[in-house]
Amino acid sequence: MDNIKLKKIAVCTGGGDAPGLNAVIRAVVLSCIRRGIECYGIRDGFNGILSPESYPQGGVVLLGHPNVKGITQLGGTILGTTNRGNPLHYPIQKADGTIVETDRSGEILQFFKQNEIAALISIGGDGSLLIAHELAQKGLKIIGIPKTIDNDLEQTVVTFGFDTAVSFATECLDRLHSTAESHHRIMVVEVMGRYAGWIALNSGIAGVADAVLIPEIPYQLEKVVEKISSLEKRGRTYAVIVVAEGAKPVDGEVTVLAKEIGRKERLGGVGEKVAKELSQMTGQETRVVVLGHLLRGGKPTCFDRLIALRFGAAAVRALEEGYSDVMVALESPAVKYVPLVSAIRRMKSVPLTCDTILTGRDLGVCFGD
Ligand code: F6P
Repeated sequence: MDNIKLKKIAVCTGGGDAPGLNAVIRAVVLSCIRRGIECYGIRDGFNGILSPESYPQGGVVLLGHPNVKGITQLGGTILGTTNRGNPLHYPIQKADGTIVETDRSGEILQFFKQNEIAALISIGGDGSLLIAHELAQKGLKIIGIPKTIDNDLEQTVVTFGFDTAVSFATECLDRLHSTAESHHRIMVVEVMGRYAGWIALNSGIAGVADAVLIPEIPYQLEKVVEKISSLEKRGRTYAVIVVAEGAKPVDGEVTVLAKEIGRKERLGGVGEKVAKELSQMTGQETRVVVLGHLLRGGKPTCFDRLIALRFGAAAVRALEEGYSDVMVALESPAVKYVPLVSAIRRMKSVPLTCDTILTGRDLGVCFGD
């Protein structure tokens, strides 16, 4: 592909935040400055373009050295983000209170044309990458950068944010072991991850959990009770159980916390259910800890920072090399570009035969099956 000369590009972050977003933004901005390209940041997904009145200081701002100084190690995103506001299905409230979805993608394309911004780097999860692909199909030059703590995106070995989330969850499990042991309790720890069990699995194995319940293996609590009894026989008077928010019982459903128009259903509450049932089944005192959004905060680990910086710089190189409608991805040890269409509308679940599951089984971890 021929190198092209770019003058202006834009960058935005969409969906739930993940540690490493700021590192990507810094890499994008510095890679642009080095090439003489102006880089504009769009606030809160596409809202900076679609609702400029909400941003007195500008919904789209030129980013320079001062904006990205010292942000590599910061959690969150300096641009803000949203998991509402899909420009292709933009929720608009009518006078009678009902909400209708409108396609406002034309306004995005118009904005880029009018301001002579040649391309967009869109950092986001499955939802944002689908939007990116659809905008690319409508003619916008676009590079996607995969992000999610859930690690559930296809075509990339890993997404940044995941390592930070797993490291924090593991540290929490380490802390919970001692209090569970002191009080002879069953400690149930619910972690995020949506419909994939990556965070629960990796933190559960590293954090020496006795049972790990993930969406990919519907559970029977009788199996967990058997595990707890076998521990008791060896003199263990406590247990630590990790439950993914998307875990569900055999013949049961995921636990949904809320359903709202214009966004995905929110999961949560399965930890509470599991704890209650385990307490009834074993007669043992049980406590629940929901790690929730704590997993999304804090500074990115070294691994996540590096992936994020590499993805950001690679996205600018991809644009320069003339690519569009592709996603930057990790194929260890290299960073590559894959067609966006191959990464969207599918989910990377934990394969049941993956060696982390096999390792867990060899270590005696119960998966509820
Ligand atoms: O996709 C990231 C994630 O943190 C999921 O693990 C979780 O289900 C969801 O986002 C929570 O989203 P919200 O920010 O809307 O609470």
